[in-house]
Amino acid sequence: MRLDWVTRISLDNLRPLLSLFSAALAIDLGTVNTRVYARDRGIVVNEPSAVALDNRTGEVQAVGKEAKEMLGRTPGNLRVVKPINDGVIADFKVTEKMLKYFIQKAHQRRTLVHPRIIISIPSEITQVEKRAVTDAAYRAKAAEVHLVEQAMMAAIGAGLPVTEPGGNMVVDIGGGTTDVAVISLSGIVYSRSLRVAGNHMDEAITNYLKRKYNLLIGERTAEQIKVEIGSAYTLDKPLTMEIKGRSLIEGRPKAITVDDSEIREALSESVSTIVSAIRMALERTPPELSADISDCGIVLAGGGALLKNLDKRIREETGLPVCIADDPLCCVVLGTARILIDFKFLRRILIE
Ligand SMILES: Nc1ncnc2c1ncn2[C@@H]1O[C@H](COP(=O)(O)OP(=O)(O)OP(=O)(O)O)[C@@H](O)[C@H]1O
Ligand SMILES: [Mg+2]
Repeated sequence: MRLDWVTRISLDNLRPLLSLFSAALAIDLGTVNTRVYARDRGIVVNEPSAVALDNRTGEVQAVGKEAKEMLGRTPGNLRVVKPINDGVIADFKVTEKMLKYFIQKAHQRRTLVHPRIIISIPSEITQVEKRAVTDAAYRAKAAEVHLVEQAMMAAIGAGLPVTEPGGNMVVDIGGGTTDVAVISLSGIVYSRSLRVAGNHMDEAITNYLKRKYNLLIGERTAEQIKVEIGSAYTLDKPLTMEIKGRSLIEGRPKAITVDDSEIREALSESVSTIVSAIRMALERTPPELSADISDCGIVLAGGGALLKNLDKRIREETGLPVCIADDPLCCVVLGTARILIDFKFLRRILIE
């Protein structure tokens, strides 16, 4: 009798019980950055999605900020892996290690905690990719895992009234993807995810400097140039920056000075692609909701929203009001955190 009772206790039966005692976490597993929000404690992790591994043993040497700093500087026995590509898991094992590390960090390294986790994922990922995210979280010792759509979370995090019948447009420009979505009555009316965002802009800058100046720069320098002098529309005050790299002709270190108009040219294709996606979303939005959007405008989220004058460029090209969310980099995790405490709401928008 007793044995029978014991055999009936599978992990699945135990999960709801475990979750009763567990802490709850909201996770934004981004291509460039991962953020973790712990209930009652706020954002406890906000670090690059990067892991430094020992080439021989496969052991983790560093995660997050520390790993990103090693990028482009690792000795032969180390390599830095960014396990999320364009919003989806490219390296399952490394993602699992990274998640485990961040979850432990969120719980101040108490090992026996099995948290209930809500993870936001991009709208256009496949069932297999969804499964990979869920599995990685379970293997990182989650008691329960729920998936929600990033675009909806960005809208909630930006404070948009997503449950009301009006139409809201949110554009989340991250590192790997730009997600354009129209939301109404807690549902996604239109969504489109394109693989043109921050990383694509960095590559465009690298290619531009290679072509124009025969200068080879590293990934981190390209990002720095974009953040410091990159823009999507003419600036009020011109900016210049000294850039150091390696000459492709002489093979030696070389420094040049570039100005904002050159970087704008380098970024023009990426920016036009994003603007076209917004235009297409507006064309495909049902007319009633379109009218709402023309009143309330477009909200920009994600790190790419901070590209200088991107809001101005979108305003010019669409003729609509455009604003940047209060905390664009943390919008998605803050939105996910909000539903962490509101289970009725969570049930309405859960993917699975
Ligand atoms: N001031 C800035 N100007 C331009 N780009 C910026 C700025 N600050 C951050 N970024 C860019 O934003 C991107 C990171 O944004 P974010 O953290 O929202 O992406 P992510 O959530 O990791 O990616 P994804 O949502 O695509 O998976 C990087 O490409 C970064 O270079
Ligand atoms: Mg993101």
